[in-house]
Amino acid sequence: MASTYVAVGSSPIPLATSLAEILNAEAIICNVRRFPDGESKITLPRIPKGHCIVVQSTHPPVDTSMMHAIMLVQKVAQTSEKVTVVVPYMGYARQDQEFLRGEIVTLRVVMNMLMAAGADRLITVDIHSATGLSYSNNISSVSAMPELAKHFDSMSLDNPLVVSPDRGGMQRAEAFADILGMQAITLDKERDRVTGEVSVSAGSVDVKGNDIILVDDIISTGGSIVEATKFLKEQGCGDVFAACTHALLINDAAKKLHKAGIRQIVSANTIPGLTATVDVAGVIADAIS
Ligand code: R5P
Repeated sequence: MASTYVAVGSSPIPLATSLAEILNAEAIICNVRRFPDGESKITLPRIPKGHCIVVQSTHPPVDTSMMHAIMLVQKVAQTSEKVTVVVPYMGYARQDQEFLRGEIVTLRVVMNMLMAAGADRLITVDIHSATGLSYSNNISSVSAMPELAKHFDSMSLDNPLVVSPDRGGMQRAEAFADILGMQAITLDKERDRVTGEVSVSAGSVDVKGNDIILVDDIISTGGSIVEATKFLKEQGCGDVFAACTHALLINDAAKKLHKAGIRQIVSANTIPGLTATVDVAGVIADAIS
């Protein structure tokens, strides 16, 4: 039987090593050197054969991380029989349509680049929307929701209610709520496509006395969760927690969230960080095997 390797570029190393352990694969931790002009040089300490799983998230600096993924795929494809690329956090996933005339559908561009570099299959976690999956039959998305939900299973919350900050995330929030036997509702979020400004509302939501778990795929600037928390607090809710798959937490986003009243932020290890306590290696391994 062919050997299996897990090659990881710059990030996320804990997820990649955990995946290698589960798959009984050899982990290849690459040496990544960044030059003052921004270019990168990646050196593999061992050349893979057989099945090589490349793990590279594309969190900030997004273009550099994306380039690392493409470089790695291209290199391992030269010697491997099969290449699976795991992009735990898929940057550009929100640019999956031409929302305003003239916009580039960047997600399609980067997915094409990864496949053209030599990937046979691409796996990501909680892709922003199913639209991204329509660009190739070889792309799939697994969900961190079951693992994130486990984190809340043992917590004692008062009348817990799961809330999606927007309609687009309702399916994910429902999946999360189902696992915990809770109810899920959605708010209405509007984002100005030109300024990026976010506003949150909802017809009539009765959240008085409910502890809330806000569930989202990405927390970036924190704007969506801050606005949702403000709204829910005004309606008289109890404690508010935030669960997300990908915690980008740009600049002082975590501080803003806590200031708005978020008790705890929990995320998956698709992006390394203080909140990334939920390991999704098992879910990815299941999709690979
Ligand atoms: C957008 O619809 C996504 O699901 C997230 O809600 C959004 O990306 C979060 O971004 P931010 O934290 O900057 O509001």
